[in-house]
Amino acid sequence: MKKLLLLVGATGTHFLFAQNNIVLNAGNGKDVIDKNIYGHFAEHLGHCIYGGFYVGDTNKTIPNKDGVRLDVIDALKKLKVPVLRWPGGCFADTYHWRDGVGPKKERPSMLNIWWGNVKEDNSFGTNEFLNMCEQLGAEPYLSGNVGSGTPQELADWVKYTSHPNGSSPMTDLRQQYGRPNPWKVRLWGLGNEAWGCGGNMKVEHYANVYRQYATFMTNWNNSDRIYRIASGASDDDYHWTEVLMKELPANMFDALGLHHYSVIDWNKKSSATNFSEEEYFITMKKALLMEELITKHSAIMDKYDPQKKKALAVDEWGGWYDVEPGTNGAFLFQQNTMRDAMIAGATLNIFNNHCDRVKMANLAQAINVLQAVILTREDKIILTPTYHVMEMYNVHQDATLLPLQVTSNKYTVGKESLTAVSASASKDKNGVTHISLVNIDAKNPQPVSIDINGASYKSVTGRILTSDKLQNYNSFDNPGKIVPKTYSGAQLNGPKLSVTIPPFSVVVLELK
Ligand code: AHR
Repeated sequence: MKKLLLLVGATGTHFLFAQNNIVLNAGNGKDVIDKNIYGHFAEHLGHCIYGGFYVGDTNKTIPNKDGVRLDVIDALKKLKVPVLRWPGGCFADTYHWRDGVGPKKERPSMLNIWWGNVKEDNSFGTNEFLNMCEQLGAEPYLSGNVGSGTPQELADWVKYTSHPNGSSPMTDLRQQYGRPNPWKVRLWGLGNEAWGCGGNMKVEHYANVYRQYATFMTNWNNSDRIYRIASGASDDDYHWTEVLMKELPANMFDALGLHHYSVIDWNKKSSATNFSEEEYFITMKKALLMEELITKHSAIMDKYDPQKKKALAVDEWGGWYDVEPGTNGAFLFQQNTMRDAMIAGATLNIFNNHCDRVKMANLAQAINVLQAVILTREDKIILTPTYHVMEMYNVHQDATLLPLQVTSNKYTVGKESLTAVSASASKDKNGVTHISLVNIDAKNPQPVSIDINGASYKSVTGRILTSDKLQNYNSFDNPGKIVPKTYSGAQLNGPKLSVTIPPFSVVVLELK
């Protein structure tokens, strides 16, 4: 039976709450949370690249290195971005990499047909992206053009980026264009959303196309191998996963993608900031669906790959709302509130807890697009609540997952309920344990009692991200409205840890 707890609110009002219970199995860690779960995504879309990452190498007003904003580099380094996916998205299957290398004056322009038909001048191309990844300390993940490209074009891109000097005309071109040595790109996507903007293919057809493209992408030596990611399912398209697992030869792929957005209704997405509790609830229901999607796609993968050698890469996820009033509808620029912090915290807990199969995830998208971690306006930047959640959670990167059993209260709106509290825990290389807790309940604080098995801790400290309104956000006028604060509400009593999580808050605890 659940324990009931009496809490006294700020006004002296008494609340009676059932207690949430978590069992931390600190001695049972075995799987590592791949740091790439904390990955990002940068598409040539709206102001993600141009104005977001890149302001041009002749820009004298915004501090930059080779055109890449220094404020952005600094913020993303603090986030410890492990991997960055580029150049799309839908854009990837229209992108011809040869247009984006060489002297900028000679690079042809194109129309960005997916995102507003704006002119793409190709001034940010392969060299700019890969050099930027080096600056960031992030691993590049290149999304290849399978929809409108050729196997030769993709094979050449691998050679241009990664093969040893002198081994092909492509590597000569690389040297001619100013890069003395290869970058060595490991992660390659073979198309994006092949079921939609990537060619509207049936999975049976895509499986054959995939095999053809994969055949000609070659490693640069015997030990460093390319890692190939097939364009994966949308949401609950389990047939897509089943066919790929059946039809792709094991030696030709390393991971399957999966895309899932938290959208209320594709035809009526609603405002990013001006939303009701009912709309919030639907968004969270969509976000928490990630648990079921990963479980079911993984179960299919388990049938063909019980040893879990192949990964699930959730290479697009996040909240999707209406664009901000007065902005270009094709640019997908949206503000970021505490609702987004809830999506981020709850989703990252799901990824952590499934780290035996999920080895990479890429939040859509890094800057100025969808659930961004950074918003820019001329020379100003904002770090969003989502940024802060990802920064608080980066303690889990490459740490060992500690299994939890969570018994949570319900968060109820109308006739529907969701699990209020979600959590994940890990032990890092220095033996420090971190527990991340999210309370999505918009009204009620959630008291949590944590039973610790298999370890004894001497101290607990914590950080919290919270605000007084779910709809709050960081603006250019008030960029520091929502920032993580020290949290001293956790109490450690031998093998018991007690904590109360305020409504719509994220708490990360550190146990030593
Ligand atoms: O992230 C925006 C778009 O959403 C991507 O280009 C596409 O892959 C997805 O449909």
